[in-house]
Amino acid sequence: MSVRTKVLSVENMNPHIKKMEYAVRGPIVIRAGEIEAELQKGEKKPFPDVIRANIGDCHATGQQPLTFIRQVSAICAYPELLKDPNFPRDAKERARRILDGCGGHSIGSYSDSSGVKVIREDTAKYITDRDGHPSNWEDIFLSTGASDGIKTIMKLLMTGETGKGRAGVMIPIPQYPLYTATIAEYNAHPIGYFLNEDRNWALDVSELKRALEEAKPHCRPKAIVIINPGNPTGQVLTKENIEAVIKFAKEENLFLMADEVYQHNIYAQGSKFYSFKKVLTEMGSKYNDLELASFMSTSKGYMGECGFRGGYCEVINLDPDVKAMLLKSISAKLCSSIAGQAVMDVVVNPPKQGEPSYDLFEKEKWMVLGQLAEKAKMVTETFNTIEGISCNEVQGAMYAFPQIKLPKKLLEAAKAKGQSPDAFYCFNLLEETGICVVPGSGFGQVEGTYHFRTTILPPVQKLGEMLARFRDFHLQFMEKYQ
Ligand SMILES: Cc1ncc(COP(=O)(O)O)c(C=O)c1O
Repeated sequence: MSVRTKVLSVENMNPHIKKMEYAVRGPIVIRAGEIEAELQKGEKKPFPDVIRANIGDCHATGQQPLTFIRQVSAICAYPELLKDPNFPRDAKERARRILDGCGGHSIGSYSDSSGVKVIREDTAKYITDRDGHPSNWEDIFLSTGASDGIKTIMKLLMTGETGKGRAGVMIPIPQYPLYTATIAEYNAHPIGYFLNEDRNWALDVSELKRALEEAKPHCRPKAIVIINPGNPTGQVLTKENIEAVIKFAKEENLFLMADEVYQHNIYAQGSKFYSFKKVLTEMGSKYNDLELASFMSTSKGYMGECGFRGGYCEVINLDPDVKAMLLKSISAKLCSSIAGQAVMDVVVNPPKQGEPSYDLFEKEKWMVLGQLAEKAKMVTETFNTIEGISCNEVQGAMYAFPQIKLPKKLLEAAKAKGQSPDAFYCFNLLEETGICVVPGSGFGQVEGTYHFRTTILPPVQKLGEMLARFRDFHLQFMEKYQ
């Protein structure tokens, strides 16, 4: 019997997919899953459970969904609930409005490729109120999480050429690995600019210039990505810092991609969220014609509704012919999930004062954000009391990215195992404590420095337990390799 060879082999498959890496779900996370299974089978370990601090998945770590969001989604999915007296009037009104915008009054129908019109209108109103400057609903498309919006815009920026003709995309280092993964997938050229750890991960224009000049012989620089508040670094950019980036983008003729998915996650005293759109608009006519795409998500903030895959992108100042191409490109995907669009609608159009659900919504929202603020402080303070670890203040987002000083003997031990030192550290941490964090090398870091990223998402008590386990491990591990 002849054995059929597969059409696809690892040798002949798309090389760009092979090149992609996505640390947040990498080998350490696979090992965490195995350990969980071993614990379930009754294997004895020096810890009772695995604490997953590797991914910004709020509900997976115990965060409760907001009542109003789920009421509106439930009614959208099952309109019979419109008759249910247990559901508040405002949830029914929101759901009815969304359903009226859907084909056949059902979220089971496709929407326009850019999304349901009323939801795009509500999004424009949210942005207008947030920034104090008008937003046009036709500049907004709803996406399958922010990831889809980011990839859609990135695709537009590609040159279709190889080698030096490839598009160059400036990305922060450390960065959220979606960017390096997408750049690899699209065969573009990553232009990493380092964030300044000594200045709480601020963005230095001199570093932007250095990175760009070094990259110019290798690609055609097209865009700059800014993640604010930062992942994995947790910083919130100042208005001055944003202005400096906008000036730089103008001088270098770059498309601005502002990843603003953590816009509700601001904790530190004195930190405030400024959207790139607002700052650019207020910088006057010299700057406010710059091309800018801003991304938002239902996955983060106080909602944490990652599984609904809701998101939006506002894109301004596009050439009208390019905008037509953008619409064509998204229409080939039909549309994003309508359930996700509905959740996005609640985020941009939450209950107003005087409506029946207002008090509960505000209470639940601020409970989540208050706890995150408490945990941000707890994580920063605790790491900074451990010898050999330094951690910048977690001003926003959902992560800390502490630096670990690793002794020479440990570097040698890691090398002997064929692992990067931070991966070696994180694997040992997982095996000995059950704590799953991601090595800094998955996000990028200055050569010779070592970090890891942890989320601040586990519930307060669990996070306290995690930090205690962490401290014991760190001290023992360092002593072993001194
Ligand atoms: C900075 C940043 N951008 C985008 C995303 C993508 O989120 P989603 O696709 O769930 O909206 C994430 C997720 O963690 C993120 O941290």
